[in-house]
Amino acid sequence: MTDFDQVVERRRLLKGAFALGATAFVASSVPFAKRAFAHGGINFTPVPANGLDTITVPDGFSWHTVAAWGDPLWSGVPEFNQRTRGTGESQEGSFGDNNDGMTLFDINGHSVLAVNNEYCNRKIIYGNRKSGLPENKDDVRKGIASHGVSVFEIEKKGTKWDIKKDSPFNRKITADTSMEITGPARGHALLKTEEDPTGTTSKGTWNNCGNGRTPWGTYLACEENFNGYFSAPSNVNASLSAEHKRYGIKTKDWGYNWVRNQERFDVNKHPNEPHRAGYIVEIDPSNPTSTPRKHTAMGRFKHENVEVTIAKNGHVVAYMGDDERGEFLYKFVSKGKYVNGSSTNANLLTEGDLFVAVFSDNGRGKWVNLKESGMSEAETKVFSRVAASKVGATTMDRPEWVASNPHKVEAYCCLTNNKHRGNKTSQPVNAVNSRVGNKYGQIVRWTPDGSDHTATGFRWDLFVVAGNPTVHSDDRAGSSNINSSNMFNSPDGLAFDSMGNLWIQTDGKYSDKDDFEGMGNNQMLLADSETGQIKRFLVGPKECEVTGITWSTDKKTMFVGIQHPGEKNPEKCHFPDGGNSVPRSAIVAVTRNDGGLIG
Ligand code: FEO
Ligand code: CA
Ligand code: CA
Repeated sequence: MTDFDQVVERRRLLKGAFALGATAFVASSVPFAKRAFAHGGINFTPVPANGLDTITVPDGFSWHTVAAWGDPLWSGVPEFNQRTRGTGESQEGSFGDNNDGMTLFDINGHSVLAVNNEYCNRKIIYGNRKSGLPENKDDVRKGIASHGVSVFEIEKKGTKWDIKKDSPFNRKITADTSMEITGPARGHALLKTEEDPTGTTSKGTWNNCGNGRTPWGTYLACEENFNGYFSAPSNVNASLSAEHKRYGIKTKDWGYNWVRNQERFDVNKHPNEPHRAGYIVEIDPSNPTSTPRKHTAMGRFKHENVEVTIAKNGHVVAYMGDDERGEFLYKFVSKGKYVNGSSTNANLLTEGDLFVAVFSDNGRGKWVNLKESGMSEAETKVFSRVAASKVGATTMDRPEWVASNPHKVEAYCCLTNNKHRGNKTSQPVNAVNSRVGNKYGQIVRWTPDGSDHTATGFRWDLFVVAGNPTVHSDDRAGSSNINSSNMFNSPDGLAFDSMGNLWIQTDGKYSDKDDFEGMGNNQMLLADSETGQIKRFLVGPKECEVTGITWSTDKKTMFVGIQHPGEKNPEKCHFPDGGNSVPRSAIVAVTRNDGGLIG
């Protein structure tokens, strides 16, 4: 047996022995310490928390930078300029800022990365401006080009991975890229704009957070905080629709000033424009001239990631979190069925039912179809949040990434934190979101009834409740699988590798003080989903978030995203170039020194 086969066999044997208990807090009652920590082939001594301005990996592992913000994707584009931090033109030919979700595709032997560039660190990208903001049209052009999705081939030069400039796969997808709208809201009045009176296209994508991948070889980019780019300079007192308010659209943007270059971002003049954003975008990385598609069938909200799995009856099931305090956890079930190798798979995400989760305190839960809201199907897709509220969805502690176990019918979601929990009447404490003013977050796990991801019923438990047992002894200490040497806060990124290891990435407080003392910088941990044991694998540089994970085709390299290093105090952070350099978000490669598998 290969390592991989051994793991599958071990999981198969364990499956019979492992059963969820009746309590909603199984994770707390499992005797972790007495069980072996048997990750599929990856053994390591955990790394201590730290506040260093570099990446720390365990002894026996190494890392190097693959791509950083501003690295050119084509020859002829200038290398990153530390002084100017680039121009509109150079950024249009370079890797974007704030890389987040990503997937490596093996396309006829070529390693092609599709990577979200979620947003830009205005303080850094405009650090050459006194205001720290875009001051002219070219600054705005640079900002727009720093967002979107970068697709590029990487290759190994010696022992290190690097961008393959000028590869035919290289592509920048931005807010200016033309896209097709699919699904029930295609052509609906809500999507008709001055630019597209047919309501069937969308101009571009931005604020792509986590991601997904499909079994038919496409990449899914998830539009999250799309609202922060709209403003209303034509009337800052304009009254916006209740739906715009629900999605956080305001007459002031978050400082990007895109409206300066493109009037469509004026929500007073173009009130339907925001309805064209907030979706899952499907991209074919094998065809750089393909038109990305926005799938309204999968709903409109602040999408974190999308975890696609095929249920045993062949339907595609996609789990998705809406990352905002008190928003919901969703599930899409395709109308059609997946057929291995069939071209019909390309349309599976264009039609299907959208459900939202209701968690009961007794460890049971159900998925409620948004059709029960009484709204039209198209409206449930454009205003999914409104429909979900109408059907009584459970308000959650900011659902971030969902991961489904490749070796078992179960899924997990990071609930990152929520200062409003128990402090707002609309977000009362319940068993799954159990702590007032939740500072640390938790990971919920659910098992669909009948081992069927399309089932409407499920059992749930908390896999881990993060906390600080060195500072607190109440529920803020966390569950019993948290201790002084693995503690963390704000779980965010979450993914299973092919061996069944569960990787947890954090986007939390890095003050290392008070409630967070001893946690250090943001980090990545490895969890054993069977035993609940968790070990710290990696610590990121100062003020970063660790987000995005994928593997090389041979599983000997793990790629990890380091986002916004030095976001608040850029003068104190010089990752990854060192010296006095400007901090840059980057993708790093992590390998085992013995050349073994790492996922
Ligand atoms: Fe972009 Fe919810 O993180
Ligand atoms: Ca995130
Ligand atoms: Ca987060």
